[in-house]
Amino acid sequence: MLENGHRKILITAALPYANGDIHIGHMVEHLIVDFQNRFQKMRGNESMLICADDTHGTAIMIAAKKLGVSPEQMIAKVRDEHIHDFKLFEIEHDYYGSTHSQTNRELAGQIFERMNKKGHVVSKPMSQLFCEHDKMFLPDRFVKGTCPKCASPDQYGDNCDVCSSTYSTIDLKDPKCAICSNKPIVRETEHLFFKLDQFRDVLKHWVKNHVSSEVGNKLSEWLEADLQDWCVSRDEPYFGFEIPNYPGKYFYVWVDAPVGYMSSSLEYCKSKGIDWNSYWSEGQKTELYHCIGKDIISFHCLFWPAMLKAADYRLPTSIWTHGMLTVNGTKMSKSKGTFVNAKTFATHLNPLYFRYYLASKLSDGVSDIDWNFDDFTGRVNAELIGKITNIASRSAQMLEKLGGSLVSLDAEGKQLVTSAQDRSVEVADAYEKRQYQKAIQVIREIADTANKYFDEYQPWVLVKTDEHKTKIILTTALNIFRILSVYLKPILPSYVRQVEDLFRESSYKWSDAARILENHPLAKFDHLIKRVEPAKVAEMVAASKALNDSFTTTESSGQQSSVPQQKSSKPSSSGAQNKDGAANQAGSTIEISDFAKIDLRVARIAKAEHVEGAEKLLRLTLDLGTETRQVFSGIKAAYRPEDLEGRLTVMIANLQPRKMKFGMSEGMVLAAGPGGKDIFLLTPDTGAKPGDKIQ
Ligand code: 2FM
Ligand code: ZN
Repeated sequence: MLENGHRKILITAALPYANGDIHIGHMVEHLIVDFQNRFQKMRGNESMLICADDTHGTAIMIAAKKLGVSPEQMIAKVRDEHIHDFKLFEIEHDYYGSTHSQTNRELAGQIFERMNKKGHVVSKPMSQLFCEHDKMFLPDRFVKGTCPKCASPDQYGDNCDVCSSTYSTIDLKDPKCAICSNKPIVRETEHLFFKLDQFRDVLKHWVKNHVSSEVGNKLSEWLEADLQDWCVSRDEPYFGFEIPNYPGKYFYVWVDAPVGYMSSSLEYCKSKGIDWNSYWSEGQKTELYHCIGKDIISFHCLFWPAMLKAADYRLPTSIWTHGMLTVNGTKMSKSKGTFVNAKTFATHLNPLYFRYYLASKLSDGVSDIDWNFDDFTGRVNAELIGKITNIASRSAQMLEKLGGSLVSLDAEGKQLVTSAQDRSVEVADAYEKRQYQKAIQVIREIADTANKYFDEYQPWVLVKTDEHKTKIILTTALNIFRILSVYLKPILPSYVRQVEDLFRESSYKWSDAARILENHPLAKFDHLIKRVEPAKVAEMVAASKALNDSFTTTESSGQQSSVPQQKSSKPSSSGAQNKDGAANQAGSTIEISDFAKIDLRVARIAKAEHVEGAEKLLRLTLDLGTETRQVFSGIKAAYRPEDLEGRLTVMIANLQPRKMKFGMSEGMVLAAGPGGKDIFLLTPDTGAKPGDKIQ
């Protein structure tokens, strides 16, 4: 490791899967790394935070199929949404790549070839379940059946939720394909295996100094037991990279996913003229950290370092492992509305609240972190607003009335400010160790001293008799607040940007805490942050619940998919600066450019039919002039099918097709009215022809 100020640090967060929204559970990890990356940059080190979407595998292939789009289309759209959602929470990845890139294909191929050439890969026959209907081998999670040990029905292909036993998929009783429900057959195939056992000594040695003791204990258990060969190939059809020289065989997603750390950093380094080899070649003084959840330790602490070693790359400096997020003491739950998507949170609450709250609870251990709503509201209001922000709002507003300029400190003020500065090493040490909770604790203590000092002097009374002493007190309090803000900057970036503006200063570095501001004019004080309103928390929960309900109803006039795609709402113009808790959903707006994306067309209802088993839907065949589309529409209560045939209406022609219970819906017809019997299909001008675009 180099001296502080010269360190070169590469930090990664685990790559989110490209078939679901970013939710509040993801935030634990991305906030740990964002705090660290921002802190290291403030210290003058060269730090980069790299992430990407994890795009391959059967689950993603099937999800895209259900949506009626190509996997490439789906992952491109999801990646855009992920980038947007992270921004809402002010998470600043220096680069956000994709594992479905040419760079990743080449690097994964290179690593595999090196592993193979050195004799770390063997080919072996194996029996697997194959669905003759879907024409594919079924991964464990795509088979359901009866547990061979305890006979519990409806269990996955690899382990039983009831008796916890693990088994081979082919031993499952009455297996059913999870996609089509047909009974799969057992079929022989040939696969490639990585001989992990050959790296036992390397791993034992590495584990000693590169993971926490909690994780090390778990790994030691594994490293003392059998290290089984790891199957690294999958049969086609598979969305991923075909293995060079093995036609029809693809890299298992967990092979090319961690390679995504390398390829994304390579793309970033190339774009910035940074020497990538200095981060990944053996024998470097640079630092490489992977931050992960405790559920994926084996991939990052066994397979990944072994792959790196086999391919002559450096091993990670450390694996930062964290626990999972629970909400009000239990697992996040869609039905309870506690499975909160990032977008939903930001629509109702200021993401800075969550950044502060999480920081105040995070340590470097693997214990789960609980987001308790009462504690969240209470803590943010009492500490961030009541203790910290209050110093600035009371002092700056009063000083503004007295001319708006800081004066010189007296001996007592200087001593108080110096003692806040003296804690810089302690706070920095807590950040460095990812004990953010400790950093917040010191910050709170400093805020307490400032508030005590302020209250003892009662400047609001003193001002009537001694204006100069009052200004000294306000100057002292504001200097302490400024130092606190430097310490808080990795956690509350946009908040501290406003503090920098208040003090008319440029972007704070860590060393700025050592300065004292005297005889210095302030900018006009602007409200920094509002209190958390408990009603907004309740609204967020209701919205999360409603979102879940809309994906679980069997029939509706809306769209359904196995991949919840939340309606994108726009909390504020930049999202990140959403300091007032943002507009509610009903009030959210779209740009005219968003509206322009909607392709409205005149369509002729060529056919309208009842749908068996559907209470509200009609199946419409719409003639667009050049093509026909099938659309399911919830207008059965309002129209008899025979009255609709031949009629012209208006449809959204470029809506992504969605798989519904009764088939594919390839658009949406527009209607207005309160619902039920009173739904009125929009009708174009007379003279319109099918296919005409509505401007
Ligand atoms: O568990 C997950 O969400 C995986 N998508 C993480 C991959 S991390 C890395 F190996 F790419
Ligand atoms: Zn099937």
